[in-house]
Amino acid sequence: MIKVHHTPVLLDESLDYLITDKAGVYFEGTLGFGGHTEEILKRLNENAVLVSTDVDKTAFDHCKKLFDDESRIRLYNFNYSLIDVIAKIESIEFFDGVFVDLGVSSFQIDNASAGFTYSADAPLDMRMDKNLKLTAYDVINDFDEDNIAKIIYEYGEERNSRKIARQIVNARRINKIETTGELKKLILEITSERYQVKTLSRVFQAFRIHVNNELEFLKQFLNNSLKVLKSGGRLVLISYHSLEDRIVKEFFKYEQLSCVCPKEVPVCICEKEPRLKIITKKPIPPSEAEVGLNRRARSAKLRVAEKI
Ligand SMILES: C[S@@+](CC[C@H](N)C(=O)[O-])C[C@H]1O[C@@H](n2cnc3c(N)ncnc32)[C@H](O)[C@@H]1O
Repeated sequence: MIKVHHTPVLLDESLDYLITDKAGVYFEGTLGFGGHTEEILKRLNENAVLVSTDVDKTAFDHCKKLFDDESRIRLYNFNYSLIDVIAKIESIEFFDGVFVDLGVSSFQIDNASAGFTYSADAPLDMRMDKNLKLTAYDVINDFDEDNIAKIIYEYGEERNSRKIARQIVNARRINKIETTGELKKLILEITSERYQVKTLSRVFQAFRIHVNNELEFLKQFLNNSLKVLKSGGRLVLISYHSLEDRIVKEFFKYEQLSCVCPKEVPVCICEKEPRLKIITKKPIPPSEAEVGLNRRARSAKLRVAEKI
């Protein structure tokens, strides 16, 4: 078994909300290296079922071995957006709770060969799911300047997106940009020392989000999860950046509304039914103690809603 190092984030906080029935049927969309999974199983009794999935084959294979003796778990190497399909395969009508811990694991970040990090030199790949066609190499070497700038701006919230896109396009006219190290060097050449770490993080995040279609899959997952979440069941999500958190927050808000008619309409005609009740009015951050022990927890936000 590979040596993993991923400390589960907001572990007690998330699972205290998730588990409402010890004998229930639960869905976990981001198995990773099984940190939350292990604790979920500890909290459930022998009649419970946990269906867990991850797109990353290394994470899936690791957990297959880790939970080899565990009869309550069903493991999938599927995208979590397919929650309704997985439920159908398992002949599960409704889950008692649904959980995702978004983003990438420490293992994926530290595993240089995946090309997620600017801290190590590796081919520009960035796919969590190796079945996806598009790699970071394709985006960086084939997309036009406007498109690259848009990705960096929208998914990295980086103000110098145009300048960085121009630098990339100019550089690739001479030689293809093959590695994370080459990309990093190009960015550093045009970034003042003060902003180097922030800019690198933003640009790498942007390409990673685009390559893995992260925000679109999150939206699909949220919609599909409501089809298979039991009334009274909880939807529990941990996000790590504002783009993800905004999607979750807006989805919760919309699904809680009982009317979406324009203000000018005197009587409600929209017939919208609320489908969720928000449980966490504000997102729950990790404690200072947790951040002290695990710096990667610092940007985490936990949001919970209950199906009506
Ligand atoms: C932050 S890690 C989860 C860590 C896990 N909770 C633990 O404690 O070990 C996020 C995981 O979600 C997976 N992932 C990201 N997007 C996914 C998607 N759309 N479908 C399924 N898994 C996904 C990643 O491959 C990664 O393993």
